[in-house]
Amino acid sequence: MDDIPEALRDQATSRKTSSLSGGFPLPLLGLGLVLLSIVGGFSAALLMRPIPKPTATPSPQITPTPVATPTPSPVENVLGHLPYKQALTSELVPISADGRIRLRSSAAQKYLQMQRAARQAGVILMPLSGFRTVSEQEYLFFKVKEKRNQEAKKRAEVSAPPGYSEHHTGYAIDIGDGRTPATNLSPTFDQTAAFRWLQNHAPKYSFELSFPPNNAQGVNYEPWHWRFVGDTQSLETFYKAQQLKKVK
Ligand code: DAL
Ligand code: ZN
Repeated sequence: MDDIPEALRDQATSRKTSSLSGGFPLPLLGLGLVLLSIVGGFSAALLMRPIPKPTATPSPQITPTPVATPTPSPVENVLGHLPYKQALTSELVPISADGRIRLRSSAAQKYLQMQRAARQAGVILMPLSGFRTVSEQEYLFFKVKEKRNQEAKKRAEVSAPPGYSEHHTGYAIDIGDGRTPATNLSPTFDQTAAFRWLQNHAPKYSFELSFPPNNAQGVNYEPWHWRFVGDTQSLETFYKAQQLKKVK
């Protein structure tokens, strides 16, 4: 009896003589049920107890790393002309009989080979202009522009502003036909034997036309102006800056 909690003793005492038909003593059954309900109630209370909210621990502030979106860099240009560095004098080699026309040594070597090959085919390639300094280009752009009463935009169709000429690099050359000097620096040069020969053979010597008709830079067609792209330095010089479709 001492095992029965005090609150239940009376109940247990009053039923001590009754029993189920199976002989199971009723007071014990009652006690079991009471215990069950207490335990059950306690469990239910446990289950129904509000779940404590987890205390918010401050999460470290995550700053999103900016994703680098490749933005096409606009190519620096002046009236369609791209900037070029002036070659060092020590890098230049004469290609004309009087020594006044010079190219960078890699270009000079290939140009002279090309000139010899043309001569063997009866074609006379005549160098007209090679390397030019920035101050020489200054004269060609500003002084000639003033003499001809031209606006800068008009002048830029045929001449690069100083600092923006391929001639500064020592890789560009203006070529004429020795048999038809009247076509020098004229669009009619493309009617000459020299031009036709160059069209067919210049790539073999790594020379290419810089300003074909309707070129992306908007410079007038110059069939006489060729540039050397036969080594990494010259190729980079002309193609690194050219991630452009149309610069003006
Ligand atoms: N005639 C070309 C564009 C120059 O001046 O470089
Ligand atoms: Zn030129």
